[in-house]
Parts: sequence; C-alpha cells; structure tokens
Amino acid sequence: MLNMNPAYEGKAKVVYDLGDRLLMKFKDVVTAGDGARRDEAPGKGALAAKTTAILFQKIDVPHHFLSYEPPDSIVVEKLQMIPLEVIVRFFAYGSYLRRMRVEPLREFSRPIVEFHLKDDTLHDPLVLEDDIVEAKMADRGELAQMKDMALRAAAQLRDFFASRGLQLLDVKFEFGRSSSGLKLADEISGDTIRVLYHGEHLDKEYYRKTGDVRGLLERYRKLLELISLEQLR
Ligand SMILES: Nc1ncnc2c1ncn2[C@@H]1O[C@H](COP(=O)(O)OP(=O)(O)OP(=O)(O)O)[C@@H](O)[C@H]1O
Ligand SMILES: [Mg+2]
Repeated sequence: MLNMNPAYEGKAKVVYDLGDRLLMKFKDVVTAGDGARRDEAPGKGALAAKTTAILFQKIDVPHHFLSYEPPDSIVVEKLQMIPLEVIVRFFAYGSYLRRMRVEPLREFSRPIVEFHLKDDTLHDPLVLEDDIVEAKMADRGELAQMKDMALRAAAQLRDFFASRGLQLLDVKFEFGRSSSGLKLADEISGDTIRVLYHGEHLDKEYYRKTGDVRGLLERYRKLLELISLEQLR
C-alpha cells in the first residue's frame, strides 16, 4: 500500500487505485474557505475515517463503503463520480443564511435539497437542475434519484444522531455511478455534516469560527464517542 502512487490527492484525502476499488486515506489536515485556510490536525484522519465507516453502515441506501482500514483509511467501490455536492438541510445554517433572510437554526417544514457544483474556484455555487442537465452532468432521472436517495439517507442519519442526543442540521453528499446504478460516495464525517450536541457544534463549523484545531479534534473525538456507543435499551 505504502509504495503505491496516489491516483489523486484532494484537500481531505489521498486516493489509491486498487482496480475496481479505491483506498481512501484521510489526511491529518483541516481546511476551510475552499482551501483558503489550512492547518495540520494530527489524528484527524483516523477520526474522520472511523466516523465515515460507522455512518455509512447506518444508511440503508446504496453506497460505496466496503471496509474500514485502521487507522485512517477506508476501501470503497470505485465509481464514476458526478461533480456535484448534494446538500440536505433540516435547519437553516451556513450558506443558506447568505441566500435567505431567516434566523439561524430555523427548522424547515420539510428538508430542503440543494445541488451545488463541486468547483472550488467558483466556490461550489448552488445550481439549477436545468444547469446540470444542460451541462450533461446528470439526466432528469438521475436528479430525481439523487434527491430521493439523499433525503432518505439524511433522514436515517438524523434519526440515528437523535438516538445519541445529537441534532443533525445539514449533510453534504456526493454521488457516483456504478454498473448497478447511483451510489452515495465520498465521506460522511465532521467535515461534511453539521451536528449539535447540547447546542455546540461537533463539526467543522467550530474550526471555521475559531481556527482552533485542538478544540476541533476534541469535538471530533466526542462525536465519534457518541456514535460508537452501543445502543441503550
Ligand atoms: N467511490 C468513489 N469513486 C471515485 N471517486 C470517489 C469516490 N468517492 C469519492 N471520490 C472522490 O475522491 C476524492 C476524495 O478526495 P478529497 O475529498 O480530498 O478531494 P476533493 O473532494 O476533490 O477535493 P476537496 O474535498 O479537497 O474539495 C474526491 O474527488 C471525491 O469526489
Ligand atoms: Mg472532498
């Protein structure tokens, strides 16, 4: 593994090609503002990999996760990625507040699904379904499927988090195509969800607001501890 050349290196992960699978190694780095801010974060890779492994296994929607490779990696099915971020929002937060005049944490009457273009130089803009179809990134059928899958996965995560005393505000998914249809891909970690514990962020929002890496790692550890607990009966 160690003498393999990475097929791809992003901000959060190094990806190794294993043929029809990928090994994704989560980096000990935290970034914000589309990479404008970046800090070393020792131990973050292991926390994000473990969190991702646990959360994919809570989701009853087709996904790419195959195995956790301690301490900081996962093996997934290699997919043809769709360059979109699909966000499901239960409460108003983040970029939603820059586009609509509502108070932070307003609960939506039903979850909102957004498509964003995965493009850091454009700052991952919100795009229309017509934009996506016009650019031939996905067809109408795939858009409907992504929405449906994202809503179901998000509701399952919300209910699981609620059982651990955590409040899921929003979650960001990526999708890819396999020979058997669309699957949820990438990661589900403190970097890609917003989740409150007694009103406090156990997600990357804490770092965005404070720049405090140690505090972020403490919060990621707490998040992992809460989702790792055996279900109480
Ligand atoms: N199952 C999969 N098959 C193929 N590619 C995948 C799969 N799951 C995730 N990816 C891609 O692997 C890469 C993971 O690396 P990483 O998240 O660090 O980079 P990035 O998303 O390109 O950039 P960044 O997160 O830095 O904006 C992403 O490009 C992601 O879209
Ligand atoms: Mg990424």
